[in-house]
Amino acid sequence: MTTLDHKDINDAARIIREGGLVAMPTETVYGLAADATNDKAVARIFEAKGRPQFNPLITHVASPDMAKRYVEVSPLAERLMKEFWPGPLTLVLPRKEGSDVSLLVSAGLDTIAVRMPGHDLAQALIQAVDCPLAAPSANRSGTISPTRPDHVKESLGERVDMILDGGPCPVGVESTIVKVAGDTLTLLRPGGIPRDAIERATGKPISSAHGKIEAPGMMTSHYAPDARIRLNAHEQREGEAFLGFGEVEGAGLAALNLSKSGDIAEAAANLFAHLRAADRMAATHGLTTIAVAPIPKEGLGEAINDRLARAAAPRE
Ligand code: TXA
Ligand code: MG
Repeated sequence: MTTLDHKDINDAARIIREGGLVAMPTETVYGLAADATNDKAVARIFEAKGRPQFNPLITHVASPDMAKRYVEVSPLAERLMKEFWPGPLTLVLPRKEGSDVSLLVSAGLDTIAVRMPGHDLAQALIQAVDCPLAAPSANRSGTISPTRPDHVKESLGERVDMILDGGPCPVGVESTIVKVAGDTLTLLRPGGIPRDAIERATGKPISSAHGKIEAPGMMTSHYAPDARIRLNAHEQREGEAFLGFGEVEGAGLAALNLSKSGDIAEAAANLFAHLRAADRMAATHGLTTIAVAPIPKEGLGEAINDRLARAAAPRE
């Protein structure tokens, strides 16, 4: 883990207060953070990412109490916060009347997505500025999410005022997004907290947002590397880079393994960095495709398979 460098936190806090953008490490991926109550700063996030304005952002808070300043927290939502915060669970809740989170953050919806990140640098930064931070993943829209500081630099370059270096992100896939409406839970995006853990904690089934694009950012093609992706590959063919899992390994050039021991959490932590590396190797060796071994669908595997399916989706 990282040691807290107070000078860095102070610099980052000053940049946020002045309306600037800071890439902050979270346990999932790096976020591109700005003061969620400052319209201009939030507009800069959309501009830096090249993100369509209809796609709302997640608001990061330091505690459940801080969330309650901005959203209505039902007993069911409170229970989820107690169980899973800090951690990779985002809750979509009704916007509170008088909430001063920028309307740009919620892209005109009457809900706000809130999350309390489980990373000491993110926590320290939110506490230092004492305001909620809007933060999407710190990459250009539609590209692979960043799990290391150099990924942010590659993708955003000078568009970000400062990168807080927290090393690699331990979880590696984005937060699970759940909409809480009355007594029902809807899964808008699978992520770092497995669906069954939430079902177990609440005793409630979670429905999926079938068909409807309930999280407006969940367009089909996303996380797109330059090379094409071939899923559920059992062998590496001519002209392919390979991402293995467990005993399913590539035998040729440009073969990596997401987890040799078949550990799903390790595979999640490696996913985006390995996709980037495979894409780079494919470009170097003139390979057109990245083939990926089958990944089990249970637990964190649901999020991994979701991201891979989006990476493989036809592009516009
Ligand atoms: O792990 C994460 O969640 C990372 C780190 C930085 O916290 N953040 C992240 O943000 O993945 P982003 O912007 O890449 O994804 C946010 C997703 C989008 O699909 C967006 O459409 C959805 O959350 N979202 C945000 N507000 C929403 C709302 N009010 N209703 C439904 N979906 C919402
Ligand atoms: Mg993203």
